[in-house]
Amino acid sequence: MKSRVSIVLPTYNERGNIEPLLQQLLPLQHRYNLEILVVDDDSADGTAELVRQLAHAEPRLRLIRRVGRSGLASAIKEGLLDATGDLALVMDSDGQHEPASVQRALDTLLAGDLELVVGSRFHSEAEIVGLSGRRQRGSSWANAAARFSLPRPYSQLSDYMSGFFALRLEPLLPLIRAVDVNGFKFLYELLAVSQGRLRVTEVPLSFQPRSYGSSKLDLAIFWDFLISILHSLSLRVLPRRAISFGLVGFSGVAVQLLVTQLLMLAGFGFEQALPVAVVAAASSNYLINNALTFRFQRLTGLALLRGLVKFLLVASLPVLANVGLASAYYSLVAPDTLWAQLAGILVVFVWNYAASSRFVWNTP
Ligand code: GDD
Ligand code: MN
Repeated sequence: MKSRVSIVLPTYNERGNIEPLLQQLLPLQHRYNLEILVVDDDSADGTAELVRQLAHAEPRLRLIRRVGRSGLASAIKEGLLDATGDLALVMDSDGQHEPASVQRALDTLLAGDLELVVGSRFHSEAEIVGLSGRRQRGSSWANAAARFSLPRPYSQLSDYMSGFFALRLEPLLPLIRAVDVNGFKFLYELLAVSQGRLRVTEVPLSFQPRSYGSSKLDLAIFWDFLISILHSLSLRVLPRRAISFGLVGFSGVAVQLLVTQLLMLAGFGFEQALPVAVVAAASSNYLINNALTFRFQRLTGLALLRGLVKFLLVASLPVLANVGLASAYYSLVAPDTLWAQLAGILVVFVWNYAASSRFVWNTP
């Protein structure tokens, strides 16, 4: 009996790449009972239309088309939840993952008492042609951070960010359901929610250059990854958005110190420089939060300006409260300036986060 295998291919603007890939994957139907799911996020280049055409002649091919771009991890989750195979394999659709590795990954999964097989670009037998030196260095930092933040049993893995992996669907469905899709890295999240219980191994995966189109990895995706690591380290207790908001807050502190310094160098007094620096820091926080923390509710045009005014109003309230609170703590609880100030800052943070989520970006 052939094993039922579902291959999940996330696509975003891959019209030039998807057809050659499908041609290389379809011959696998001689070994497996095959189903191929393309999950497209409404690509502008006609990827979905092409797949739809191809599916007319190929019943093993299915198209899942989503309106609006919801991201790679979310596309993978959707494909896996819709897959009907006993095994599923996820890979990039741009030709960077060599189809030759598919059979090796699936057979490894079938042969062993395993639930997950990861295609690793950093395996000693793998060859990386398609990653720039900069991306490789970035990946090794990211890998080290991922290893540190994940449960110990996974420390022998070498590619936590891989977009290529095969798994047994039945036992893993509850975990797949639980994966938080606010990121690019589905595999990392899967490992994180599994709490070290998955039986997993790696196979080498050679990484090829792209033939058409360009990578969708951008700053926001890098940011999401950083948040994922901190979220894991907080034992998945702190909400992701709050972590992001907090990090942006730190950048605001730097802006405030810098602007104060510059203005004082230009001859202004501290009392004149400080208010300008505070407003500059708050505005920079606002813009960065709008671009990263709340990018799915991102404000633009006139709404961006209105949002800034609201944000400044929201943020100025606790500044006053903070002064009151810190001095109350100092006089009522303990004459300790450090803890008094930290308590004040915590209150300001919680207020700013809650109030601006609600009133500026209209999220609960
Ligand atoms: N549906 C959907 N929605 N697909 C997407 C989206 C999205 O928002 N963003 C990217 N994809 C698809 C691409 O079309 C491609 O098939 C695959 O996901 C990988 O995207 P690339 O943009 O080619 O990623 P990369 O080559 O820069 O990144 C590679 O390395 C990462 C780790 O460093 C990939 O292998 C990633 O999977 C991997 O996480
Ligand atoms: Mn790619």
